[in-house]
Amino acid sequence: MTNAVIIEQSVTHFVEHSSAKSHLLFVTHDIIEILKDLLHRYETTSCNVLLFLSPGISESVLKFIYKQKNSQAMYSIILISPNGKTVIPAKKDLYYIQGLRTSTVLKKEFQYLVKDTFYRFAQMRSQEKKETESNFKLIDTHRDQQDLINIGRALSVEKNPDRLFRKILTLSQKITGADAGTIYLVEETAEGGKQIRVKYANTWSRDIQFEEAVLPFNTKTIAGYVAHTGEVLNIPDVYKLTPDDPVGFNPRFDREHNYITKSMLVVPMRNHRGEIIGVIQLINSKEKMTIDPNIDPLEIKLVNKEDYDNEVVSFHHRYERLLEAVAGQAGVAIENIRMIHQIETQFEEFVRASVFAIESRDEPTSGHSARVAEICIAMAEAINRQKKGKLAKIQFSESELKELKYAALLHDYGKVYLDLRLFQKAKKLYPEEFVLMMRKLDLAYKSAEIRFLNRELALLQQEKEITPDSGLYREIEQERSQCLSKIQYIREKIQLLNEPSVISETQQEVLRDITDCLKKLECHDIDGKKIDLFSKEIQKALSIERGSLTAQERREIQDHVEHTYNFVSKIPWPKELADIPLIARYHHELLDGSGYPLGLKGNKNIPIQARIMTIADIYDALTAADRPYKKALSLEKALTLLQHEADAGKIDPDLFALFKSEKIWEKITLPSN
Ligand SMILES: [Fe+2]
Ligand SMILES: [Fe+2]
Repeated sequence: MTNAVIIEQSVTHFVEHSSAKSHLLFVTHDIIEILKDLLHRYETTSCNVLLFLSPGISESVLKFIYKQKNSQAMYSIILISPNGKTVIPAKKDLYYIQGLRTSTVLKKEFQYLVKDTFYRFAQMRSQEKKETESNFKLIDTHRDQQDLINIGRALSVEKNPDRLFRKILTLSQKITGADAGTIYLVEETAEGGKQIRVKYANTWSRDIQFEEAVLPFNTKTIAGYVAHTGEVLNIPDVYKLTPDDPVGFNPRFDREHNYITKSMLVVPMRNHRGEIIGVIQLINSKEKMTIDPNIDPLEIKLVNKEDYDNEVVSFHHRYERLLEAVAGQAGVAIENIRMIHQIETQFEEFVRASVFAIESRDEPTSGHSARVAEICIAMAEAINRQKKGKLAKIQFSESELKELKYAALLHDYGKVYLDLRLFQKAKKLYPEEFVLMMRKLDLAYKSAEIRFLNRELALLQQEKEITPDSGLYREIEQERSQCLSKIQYIREKIQLLNEPSVISETQQEVLRDITDCLKKLECHDIDGKKIDLFSKEIQKALSIERGSLTAQERREIQDHVEHTYNFVSKIPWPKELADIPLIARYHHELLDGSGYPLGLKGNKNIPIQARIMTIADIYDALTAADRPYKKALSLEKALTLLQHEADAGKIDPDLFALFKSEKIWEKITLPSN
């Protein structure tokens, strides 16, 4: 603080001035010049100025003072008018004009005026400082309250645990001006004990990589002590802790990182049941209560020892309660996330277990849905990484990835409603149908044999002289041989026709021939009722033109999509997962409209999630381990087949290009059985 007395040259004879150590003294014509110089030199520390002026010059000096809007300087003017000239100052100028003298200011008066003026200024400044400080405190408290509200809001919406820990710590640091800090969580060990894990740490002054370390659950460490006892610790200087204190400080971190831990505030975090679930540890508060609130303490860097000495202060007591409030909110938020995570994990495991149970009915397809989910997620994540091209515009959020995963896990759930034999049908006839057909032919064969033997017997009984060479006998033998050979022929042909290959013209002729023959074959049960050797169903199955399924069976299989949709739609999904039923429903739709069940066409009608799943589904079906009706294809062959589908406009060519370029198949960790 600088005090200055300026006496205008023209009135110096009327002011019996004296110099003193307490103030600077100037006698001058050019008042403004001196003021400018003073402001320039002492502005940062502020200066108080007492001026003795003639009325003539006072106007220009006041003009100058009014211009210094942001100045911290204080002015007091005494007008000297010894010739008795009446001076009436303007009302606004009275703030600065302390008095009017029409006679000489005597030495004692001068000393009194100087002392009084500067004393008043000092008082005013002290009052101002107090007001400013309480204003700052008020602002700071208001800021803390705002921070607390914001923390509550921020923590309640955060669903990602890592981001939550980061938020809890950085917001706590922001409130208290702490340079460093750590979030610890109490967790259970496999043996049923407890331990404390470092979940996040942050130091504003340094770029120190935090490591997820584990501490034993005891009172030997400061965090352990707080986790154990639930006490709030506010330690002004950890290096001044003595063996009599309940906790001790381990300086290992300081040594390793050339850091100096001084003040520390450690509070426990509790869940809604009041159990301690973690600890917030804050280190080195840089928030001095009297500093300008516009200065952010977190910006202050601690580099040298002097920085620690000058900038680090104890944590203010009011932060103990405030931090407890923050820790309370943080504890509940952490517990909420834990519970949500647990519910989600349980639900996902339940879905996986259900799908696994369904797929276990058909060993060769087991694991299909989980692999399709894995491929879908790998593709969606690859899309998220795209920087250019059509797919770069698409970004899957965390909940969209989850939605895709569930849709993929459940996409074939509807198969639970279908006859399992449909999926295992390797030939045109079901195995039991084929066996029954063969047994019927065996019966027909044996019946024919008996019939011919009976005819021979009857012949023998009628004509005793008959020999094997006789015409009638030979006739029967011939007929018998023809009939039995025909049955043998039918047996062989049915075995051939049962294969799931494409049926040829000749085979169709053979089928007609067999049908005619079997119609003529007489075969009866023990009640004498004619046995239907070649039912319409068997004829239909053997006349399948391609593969092993009839049109009806094919339709039934396709119905799995609608069964899936109906089942998955019944689950009350949260809003962000609401598209799961639709994504699952479209997994057999093809871009050219040839898919099922709706025959949707084009990118606009088939969402990208379903297009991704179609590729994943086909790829897994092609490459999965051998099934009764198909062999596993090599990667090369599967890619060629998928390329054909892309070229034919059935699957999304951009997605398939990504599938190839990102080698998505290398990201599958689940076995293909
Ligand atoms: Fe399917
Ligand atoms: Fe599938």
